[in-house]
Amino acid sequence: MKSENTYRTANAFDLPVFVSLDKELFPYSPWSASQYKEEFSSPTRHFVVAEDEAKNIIGYAGVFAPGGAEADVLTVGVIPSHRGKGIARHLMALITDWAKQQGSTAMMLEVKVDNLEAIGLYESLGYSKLNTRKDYFGSGLDALVMRLELP
Ligand SMILES: CC(C)(COP(=O)(O)OP(=O)(O)OC[C@H]1O[C@@H](n2cnc3c(N)ncnc32)[C@H](O)[C@@H]1OP(=O)(O)O)[C@@H](O)C(=O)NCCC(=O)NCCS
Repeated sequence: MKSENTYRTANAFDLPVFVSLDKELFPYSPWSASQYKEEFSSPTRHFVVAEDEAKNIIGYAGVFAPGGAEADVLTVGVIPSHRGKGIARHLMALITDWAKQQGSTAMMLEVKVDNLEAIGLYESLGYSKLNTRKDYFGSGLDALVMRLELP
């Protein structure tokens, strides 16, 4: 039987899952519960989740969109067992649509220079490489800055 994933806006009850998945997916820069709490309460931030049929969170994404300016992709991650099925692409579409509704003119993000899966994802969505930021994720962890103009 084909598995059906669903997507929805995140809420405060999801916070512990975000914190725990961050440790697994972003061991070099996980956010704490208090960071997520602050982010979730901000009207300029929007977080979405993907769930499997059993309503387990299998992926998430977040964006900062301050209005008529550039939006920043804050995070996107999918658990290893569910990768390669278009889930990140769908999550990115949801946060991009939300940013557009806020009047954002472009999407920006920073990604670790050796994160080829994520760079592949962003390039497939039309993002272009702008420049690199040395030590952005910590000592020796450089970031590639990428940007997508919004229509
Ligand atoms: C990056 C990540 C979010 C991709 O999630 P995913 O659900 O597997 O991605 P999708 O299935 O939606 O793939 C969409 C596109 O991304 C690209 N892509 C995905 N995995 C890739 C890989 N391993 N290598 C190269 N490109 C890849 C492809 O272009 C793909 O399109 P295609 O399937 O039509 O070829 C996932 O690998 C992940 O969670 N990584 C760890 C967390 C992370 O690094 N997040 C990014 C932080 S900046």
